[in-house]
Formats: sequence, structure tokens, C-alpha cells
Amino acid sequence: MDKTKRKAVIAGNWKMNKTAGEGKELIEALLPAVVDAGCGVVICPPFTSIPAAVELTKGSRLSVGAQNVHFEKNGAFTGEVSADMLTELGVEYAIVGHSERRQYFGETDESVNLRAKAAVAAGLTAIVCVGESLAQREQGVTMELVRLQTKVALRDVSAEELKKVILAYEPVWAIGTGRTATAEQAEEVCAAIRGVLGELYGQQAAEGVTIQYGGSMNAGNAAELLSKPNVDGGLIGGASLKPADFAEIVKAASA
Ligand code: 13P
Repeated sequence: MDKTKRKAVIAGNWKMNKTAGEGKELIEALLPAVVDAGCGVVICPPFTSIPAAVELTKGSRLSVGAQNVHFEKNGAFTGEVSADMLTELGVEYAIVGHSERRQYFGETDESVNLRAKAAVAAGLTAIVCVGESLAQREQGVTMELVRLQTKVALRDVSAEELKKVILAYEPVWAIGTGRTATAEQAEEVCAAIRGVLGELYGQQAAEGVTIQYGGSMNAGNAAELLSKPNVDGGLIGGASLKPADFAEIVKAASA
């Protein structure tokens, strides 16, 4: 497995944290901390902080992503934001299908697929999240489930469009719990995801796709997780709100 064929990307998912003012302070603290980053670094603040985030990060190592994107171009979809609205602002990435969206807002594999397609069609890089619950892991269906989630999320996504897709393996039981998957567990599932990509697009294309791990990744465990051959980056929640911790994770991915 040749990791040089793909880009390491660390993305911070701020979730519903930080007002616009607080977000500005966080970005100002992050900028000097990641100035030497040797990997892609993305921050995904709430929509309200996006214009300021794009402005503040211009010419820096930081790119800006959204935490969600709707699949229609416009229309009567109260509370939603389209891909064009994001790209016009200078947003480059969008998280799609995060487990919190699936759990609390009724997202399904099908809607995740529609959102991923809309994101890549507009030129965004979609960070597509997959992962099992604790009950599913205990039942032994992790691989089947993650394979299915990956396949459905990528339905009708072309090989060309796949270049604008990142997969994020986020076991639900590890998110915000402090209970990280072991590096072996992360590697096993990330490798399975790459296996599905290989079946769908061929091995060469699959080798070019960045696959992140997410779920209580922090300054202390990032290096070990990222040392695994199929773990190319991280999707970071809690630790992305702490500049020193986030910078440490970025450093681990840059090594
Ligand atoms: P934590 O890093 O807080 O566990 O969150 C992970 C996550 O959900 C990132 O999208």
C-alpha cells in the first residue's frame, strides 16, 4: 500500500460550536499553529462562520469546508444550503452523511448519495462519512454495513468525480466518547472501504482515494492511527477546537 499516491488530509469538524466571533478567535490561533503543515488541513465551522473563515484563511495552509450541503441547486428547502452557495463563498470541502446527521436529522444512505453527488458536481470535495454503531459492531455486521454505506453513497459517482471524494470512517461509538477505535480496528475498516472502492473503480483509482479515520482522534493517539497503511487522515471533532491539539494531529499527518 503506497500512501504517497494520495493526500493526507486532517479536517476539523467544529459541529455546532463557536459563534462567529469565537470562530474568528479560533482561526487566528490555528493559523500560526499549522503554518508548517505537510498535509491538507481543513476546518469545517458552522455556516455562520464560513465567510469570515474563508477571508481569514486566504493564502494560508487552511482550507474551509461546510458540515453539510443540500442536493438541490435551490428552492423550497427551508434551513438548507446549496453547493453553489458554498462554492461562491470560496468553500472547498463539504462533510456529507455525518452520523449525527443520520441519527438526528433523518439522513439516509440515499440522501447522503444525493448530497455527495451535488457536492462533487459543484466542484466541492465531499467528505463522505460512514461507520457502524456499537450495536452493529457487537452484532458483527460492521464490514457489511460500511461496505453498503460506501457503495450507496457513491452510486452514480464517476471515476473522475471520485477524485473529489474523501471517505471518512467514523465508528459512531467512538465519536465524542473518548473511546477511540484501536489503530488495528481503524485500519481493518479503512482497508475494507478501499477494497469496495477497488471493486467499484479499480485498484489504481482506489489507491488514490484519501480515507480518514474519525472518532476521538486526539494529539495522543493520532500518530499511531495515522501510521496505518490505509488511514490517510483524520476527521476531528473535539480536538479541532483546541489549536495546540489540532496542530499536533496535523504534525502527525505531516510526518
Ligand atoms: P470527536 O473527535 O469529538 O470524537 O468527533 C469526531 C467526529 O464526529 C468528527 O466528525
